[in-house]
Amino acid sequence: MLKFCLFFSVLLIPGVQGIFGPDDAQYNETEARMLLNLAAAAYSLDATPCLQRTFTPAENQTLLTTFSVRCDFIGNPCAGYIVVSDVLQQITVVFRGTKTSSQLLLEGWTTLKPSADFYGMGLVNTYFRSGHEKTWQYVQDALSIPQYRNYDVYVTGHSLGGALAGLAAPRIVHDGLRQSHQIKVITFGEPRVGNLDFSHAYDQLVPYSFRVTHAIDIVPHLPACVKDLSYTPPAGSDGSMPCDPMSTNGGYHHALEVWYPGNMTVGSPYMICTGLPRDEDFSCSNAPKVDLDDTTLGVWDHRNYFGVQVPDFGKGGCDPTMTFKGPPTKTGVLSLVSSVFGRKRRAV
Ligand SMILES: *[C@@H]1O[C@H](CO)[C@@H](O)[C@H](O)[C@H]1NC(C)=O
Ligand SMILES: *[C@@H]1O[C@H](CO)[C@@H](O)[C@H](O)[C@H]1NC(C)=O
Ligand SMILES: *[C@@H]1O[C@H](CO)[C@@H](O)[C@H](O)[C@H]1NC(C)=O
Repeated sequence: MLKFCLFFSVLLIPGVQGIFGPDDAQYNETEARMLLNLAAAAYSLDATPCLQRTFTPAENQTLLTTFSVRCDFIGNPCAGYIVVSDVLQQITVVFRGTKTSSQLLLEGWTTLKPSADFYGMGLVNTYFRSGHEKTWQYVQDALSIPQYRNYDVYVTGHSLGGALAGLAAPRIVHDGLRQSHQIKVITFGEPRVGNLDFSHAYDQLVPYSFRVTHAIDIVPHLPACVKDLSYTPPAGSDGSMPCDPMSTNGGYHHALEVWYPGNMTVGSPYMICTGLPRDEDFSCSNAPKVDLDDTTLGVWDHRNYFGVQVPDFGKGGCDPTMTFKGPPTKTGVLSLVSSVFGRKRRAV
């Protein structure tokens, strides 16, 4: 009952800015594109040029903290920054992806299994948890600043940065730093950070959450889920199998995937992946079979979101005139991906 009252009292305060409302449960591509800029900026030593190109001066998005700590498991820093806008009454926490070559990363992440308890919320991968522990203090400190206590919080990141966002967000609510309706997550190319139990806990704690995936980006398929062996691929299918929505053994995504089967340029279609199995919708990025032996295009799709090569775009200050190399030609796979879009949802 108390929760109920709080919820409504929040909604009824007129004219208060920066409180997420029911619309925030909807995917907003404009917002996603803005947060992609911020996720890209995390690859740069100075996020300011990207901030200036993404927000108007009136929004006064100001860099509050920049952090970079050694994350031994990838031999790289776990890094990020935190931005505040008093005008919008918002804090944005941004985590950086890794500098390690994607190929090396794949080898490391392919074998991971969720095995570390995450504050009673289920099991998560030890590597991601270790990165979380090393960066958490910066998040906690910023969100505890008294004058910001009522500010909404956005959390974002690309790749490993998405994994760290996926852990920081539920921890923020779990630790009482914010309530569920004050936090919104949009990640890009996020790997599976935890198991099924973690996924359920996450979905309860962080209802405004979007996991943007691009075509056959390989990283969201890592670490692997346990496949549902009761499923029989129909004749003519490529043999892909859905994740088992009952198994707590492998990786299992949290909500909510937004899959772009095409090239993610302006007007590119996308799917809101609310189908089954829940959080691992088999009509989205799980539909095409993932070939771990041929990852060239899967790695390209991982690096490229919304038409930009994410790390280079960020290092270049989010300059919209930058141009990037196109994808490696893999017509077979590409046509497969485009044929998947619009395909009827398969019964699982
Ligand atoms: C989507 O986000 C943009 C940028 O924050 C905002 O201006 C716009 O009003 C939002 N659209 C909806 C439908 O909420
Ligand atoms: C912008 O925000 C910063 C940090 O909160 C504050 O110090 C500064 O005075 C603000 N600038 C304007 C023009 O409001
Ligand atoms: C993106 O895809 C659209 C539709 O398939 C195509 O018209 C456009 O040329 C593509 N853009 C790039 C940069 O590849």
